Amino acid sequence: MKIGLLIIATNKYTRFLQPIIDSADIFFLTGFDVTYFIFTNQKIDIKSNRNIKSINVEHKEWPWMTLGRYKIFADNYEELSKMDYLFYTDADMKFVNHVGEEILSDRVGTLHPGFFHNPNTSNIALEKRPESLAYLPPNTIKNYYAGGFNGGTSKEFLKMSQTISKNIEIDLEKHNIIAEWHDESHMNRYFHENKPTLELSPSYCYPESWNLPFDKKLLALDKNHNEVRN
Ligand code: GAL
Repeated sequence: MKIGLLIIATNKYTRFLQPIIDSADIFFLTGFDVTYFIFTNQKIDIKSNRNIKSINVEHKEWPWMTLGRYKIFADNYEELSKMDYLFYTDADMKFVNHVGEEILSDRVGTLHPGFFHNPNTSNIALEKRPESLAYLPPNTIKNYYAGGFNGGTSKEFLKMSQTISKNIEIDLEKHNIIAEWHDESHMNRYFHENKPTLELSPSYCYPESWNLPFDKKLLALDKNHNEVRN
């Protein structure tokens, strides 16, 4: 079974690459045939015993790298569809405990660490303009998912990538709308219409300095957002 782990890291984000790969070598689906797909604009020299494929992408200013992630995947359909499963992780994350076959399912979403205790609180994060293709009326969703870690079979993940990248493009062209939380808003709309077949706990997107009632498996590292983005 072939698994692809997708990581986008341009400019300063490349500093996160070796640490996340080191942690994935130890904890991410050990025993599986994993390929790291690294989408970057830099020449990188990453050490790992696993396969690494570096794919060139252009750097864009915030928020265009996050907003454009699903287009990058859709644009690499042919290469990525050779995998059985695909998982995306933000680069500024770190595996700190075993992540195994419990994550393998058709469509995999991770509950957002900020809203798991009460989905209604996620109303504040929702896209509120009805003309946006990311729009979700308040109180319609049961769960709000984090953009930092998700995946599924390559077929389902690439289908989601195509739909989301098309919807983002339509929002921009027709209405000049960038959704409230960028690609994450579109992913939540997609998951509202195409329910995840597996919902991971916030263990898999656990903010480093928070204290949550979950095991830590994949940490979202503390960072100075403005410093890294510029
Ligand atoms: C933040 C997170 C953002 C977005 C937001 C939604 O904690 O850093 O990426 O998910 O929550 O409210």
